[in-house]
Amino acid sequence: MRMYDLIEKKKRGGTLEKEEIRAMIRGFVAGEIPDYQMSAMLMAICFQGMSDEETTCLTLEMAHSGDVMDLSPIEGFKVDKHSTGGVGDKTTLIAGPIVASLGVRVAKMSGRGLGHTGGTIDKLEAIPGFQTALDTERFFEIVRRVGIAVAGQSGNLVPADKKLYALRDVTATVDSIPLIASSIMSKKLAAGSDGIVLDVKTGSGAFMKTLEDSVTLAGKMVAIGTGAGRVCTALITDMDVPLGYAIGNALEVEESIRVLDGGGPEDLREVSLRLAAEMLHTAGRGSETQCYELAAGALRDRSALRTFAEMIRAQGGDGRVAKEPDRLAKAPFCREVKAEESGYVAHMDTEACGIASVLLKAGRSTKDDVIDPAAGIVLKKKYGDAVAKGETLACLYASDEALFAQAEQTLRRAYRLEPARPAARRWIYARVSREGTQRFE
Ligand code: URA
Repeated sequence: MRMYDLIEKKKRGGTLEKEEIRAMIRGFVAGEIPDYQMSAMLMAICFQGMSDEETTCLTLEMAHSGDVMDLSPIEGFKVDKHSTGGVGDKTTLIAGPIVASLGVRVAKMSGRGLGHTGGTIDKLEAIPGFQTALDTERFFEIVRRVGIAVAGQSGNLVPADKKLYALRDVTATVDSIPLIASSIMSKKLAAGSDGIVLDVKTGSGAFMKTLEDSVTLAGKMVAIGTGAGRVCTALITDMDVPLGYAIGNALEVEESIRVLDGGGPEDLREVSLRLAAEMLHTAGRGSETQCYELAAGALRDRSALRTFAEMIRAQGGDGRVAKEPDRLAKAPFCREVKAEESGYVAHMDTEACGIASVLLKAGRSTKDDVIDPAAGIVLKKKYGDAVAKGETLACLYASDEALFAQAEQTLRRAYRLEPARPAARRWIYARVSREGTQRFE
């Protein structure tokens, strides 16, 4: 098999055989296939797509390219969740502790921010002392004792995705349905949980910009998960507007704590509750309605907040943060972005909001960048809000005032104001399971 021939085949719309995909992934991980050939293949896949069979083969080959977690030493049903990536998406910090506080175990491997989207590991590391590098023994011990542990992906879990993602990130080949499906599902299968709930984002801040593409992506991932013997469902949730008001690591932890403490923004609370309900349902804890009620109860009686504090302590962090979020890092400088005209916020370019936060150093522009945990944005106006000229649209936070100019320009361009109030939006559009797609009108 010559990589040149496989690239040629895919470029012409051909179907790669199982053995060809296997040889390609093994050769790439072993360093025998150079980046330039794999980049050409990735671009060919972006243009020509992959059949369901090819996508499944690619996923399984990637999942077995390194270590595979065996969670069987932890008794009971283990559930995982994964978001396709968004701006202000901090639902893991809320849904995870809710589910764990209700006795369903969450053994979660999470990632860092990618491009304009944030990552759970970066958010948790904004908590003083919090450790995300856990060896297997400690990871298992915390899941058993607290009900939840969130760790960074261990060194040799799905090395194929690490190498492929780094290449996709710099070759404009991220937004391909088979490549996203295989990237996410290879990690989820290798992480070993019995149940997988996917949060597939849709809109201007998501990798999938349209609802139809998001439903297609969700369908493919659910088919791969169920085909591999896992209980797997997906919710399609809105990412045309940032979730909640905070974008940036410590700011997002603080907003999550407010939700866990019974308050916080309504969109963030609702999406987190629905994801938590889906995770509980996957674990057989009752109907979706019953599970939603259970989840809401864990916020009301603060048991999820207590579990979050316990998880922070177990992972070496300052658990007092859960009661006193003021202990989180604060940026020394703040700039208010004022509206230059009056109107209603009729559109938000959510990807641009994410980019503005990266410009403040809340995320990375290159993979070696060091992020500033205190940096970010607190939105004061979101989609549908009335704005008067001179009112504050958002507050920017940074450790270096020189970063404000470009971030402010980018954020300003993300807002479109119009004279009429726009139609209300949904937060959750559809649920995808092995039974099919249920759309919420
Ligand atoms: N998240 C991932 O883990 N992989 C992708 O390809 C896109 C989002």
